[in-house]
Amino acid sequence: MTRLILVGPPGSGKGTQGARLAGEASVPHLATGDLLREIVTSGSSEGERYKAIMKSGNLIADEDIVKLVDDRLKKADAKKGYLLDGFPRSLKQAELFSNTDAGALLDRALVLNVDEDALIERLSGRLTCLSCGASFHIKNFPPKAAGKCDNCGADLIQRADDNPESIKQRLKVYRDTTEPVIEYYKHKGLVVEIDASGSPDDVYSALRAYI
Ligand code: AP5
Ligand code: MG
Repeated sequence: MTRLILVGPPGSGKGTQGARLAGEASVPHLATGDLLREIVTSGSSEGERYKAIMKSGNLIADEDIVKLVDDRLKKADAKKGYLLDGFPRSLKQAELFSNTDAGALLDRALVLNVDEDALIERLSGRLTCLSCGASFHIKNFPPKAAGKCDNCGADLIQRADDNPESIKQRLKVYRDTTEPVIEYYKHKGLVVEIDASGSPDDVYSALRAYI
């Protein structure tokens, strides 16, 4: 059984690697950013509130996120394991998660390390599929047909938070609020740090040992 979390700064490849790893391990890839973007797309009042917070590069309230994840992990497909991408990203979230049935059984926290200049380059050129969540890069991983997702054919967009101001704030929030989560899991002996600056295939090879 595979129960993993992927921790890393914006643009470190959580989505890219998470989709592939979860596919190979046959567990659901649960990215809190994707779950939140689905709520935003639904147009509900909650979605409107989340949209503004996400665009600013700040975090959604811990209690809302923990409930979202806990509810999702109670579904049948998560009984055989999970790969969480982008959660937990505050100490409070990590503590609350450890007190849930699924969180108490966590196998490892895989931490993706990439330097900040490379992150900015990756995020500035990213193209995201709103339908399946796949990401491409205008220069490094261009889609086969311009503006269309290779996997599902839907339109590719630039995410509302992939602009210089939001990227700067997301990196700051990562340093201030999410890095302490790594220390929390280090104390539990669960952290594996991965150099995620190489090619996607190289990073995948390093991660694969843990599924
Ligand atoms: P979220 O969607 O999780 O965004 P993020 O953490 O900022 O991370 P990204 O999705 O931007 O990057 P990634 O690591 O997935 O990289 P990717 O694989 O796409 O969260 C968005 C917002 O939602 C948050 O700011 C917050 O408001 C809210 N939120 C989410 N979770 C929350 C939580 N737990 N609590 C509170 N709020 C929460 O790759 C990036 C680009 O690089 C792509 O173009 C890709 O093709 C390219 N690339 C990937 N790997 C490589 C490589 N090895 N070499 C070169 N390029 C690469
Ligand atoms: Mg992502």
